[in-house]
Amino acid sequence: WWANVQKGPEDPILGVSIAYNKDTSPSKINLGVGAYRDENGKPYVLECVKKADKKIYEANVDHEYAPIVGVAAFNQLAAQLALGEDCKHIKEKRIATVQSISGTGALRIAADFFARFLKGKTAYVPNPTWGNHNVIFADAGIPVKSYGYYNPSTCGLNFDAMSKDITAAPEGSIILLHACAHNPTGVDPTTEQWKKISQICKERGHFVLFDFAYQGFASGSPEKDAAAVRMFVEDGHNIALCQSFAKNFGLYGERIGAFSILTESPEQALNVESQLKILIRPMYSNPPVYGARLVQAILKDKELTNEWRSEVKGMADRIINMREQLVKYLKKHGSTRDWSHITTQIGMFCFTGLTPEQVDRLANEYHIYLTRNGRISIAGINSTNVEYLAKAMAAVTKD
Ligand code: LMR
Repeated sequence: WWANVQKGPEDPILGVSIAYNKDTSPSKINLGVGAYRDENGKPYVLECVKKADKKIYEANVDHEYAPIVGVAAFNQLAAQLALGEDCKHIKEKRIATVQSISGTGALRIAADFFARFLKGKTAYVPNPTWGNHNVIFADAGIPVKSYGYYNPSTCGLNFDAMSKDITAAPEGSIILLHACAHNPTGVDPTTEQWKKISQICKERGHFVLFDFAYQGFASGSPEKDAAAVRMFVEDGHNIALCQSFAKNFGLYGERIGAFSILTESPEQALNVESQLKILIRPMYSNPPVYGARLVQAILKDKELTNEWRSEVKGMADRIINMREQLVKYLKKHGSTRDWSHITTQIGMFCFTGLTPEQVDRLANEYHIYLTRNGRISIAGINSTNVEYLAKAMAAVTKD
């Protein structure tokens, strides 16, 4: 039966962890997957999550099925966290929100829904973008094109290309935007630039899909990080929104996320929700409940929410500190390159500008693992390994 099945390549991001795990060197470093590590290089379980865990355990909950849309109270809190408690769509019940299998699952629901109800539209994603975006849309049968985003010569935003390409996209296209902490570049538009993009999307009648996987990780403030999403909604865009709670709640393996579509009326919201249910049921019936229970327990409790806020800020601050340390040690080890983008880029990732060959040298000669596009997950750096990393980066980039 399977004689024709050829071995496929590993995933460009998750494959990095496989290579790292095989390496037996004590000095190995994994800067591949975007998963937060503490100062000791260990996975970090948030204190608020531990407390929520205890509460759930003590409540002696059952393990019944959730409805197809997931845990209703979680869905409401998730939408509020992104859109704000004053969001008109929430107050007027003009939003359909379903629980999803983290951010990827939310995107997959989005893509399949668009394939049904936005037939013939093309999705535009930034160049570069998180690699999975392209595959998710392609697998759902939606043509994918890219708009200009990153300028390698400045290691910053190519706003000109971004606005031109979004303007040139056929009217009514699907425009995917990273809400904050763009993955992989760590480069976000300014408030004025967001405003301009919002106007262009309005003029061109584009449909806007926000991927919001890093709320809290860009600035340390969940509200500030939601500014672009909320601006678009204020500007009258009935957006779609994919949320992940993997990074900001440290719930990677719980696969907890949400997908929302903002609509014009409560009736439309109910219609959309009914179709989302029809789409989800044959995929996985209904989502797992545990991650939703954890996030719900935190967000419905003021004290735990405040604790969560300070813990997200703690993670964001540690990352900022590591960016500074890395630049300091690169200079100390004689690198004369301009590394200022390491500190100007934000969020979990830095797009270093390292070439695929330099990335290979880091792995082969120094046991340092990252994706071949030169992206490093800053979360994998700590005060024990930062100097070793800087030394290696300085060595492979020496002319
Ligand atoms: C990443 O970009 O490293 C994360 O979003 C994890 C993933 O699933 O790729």
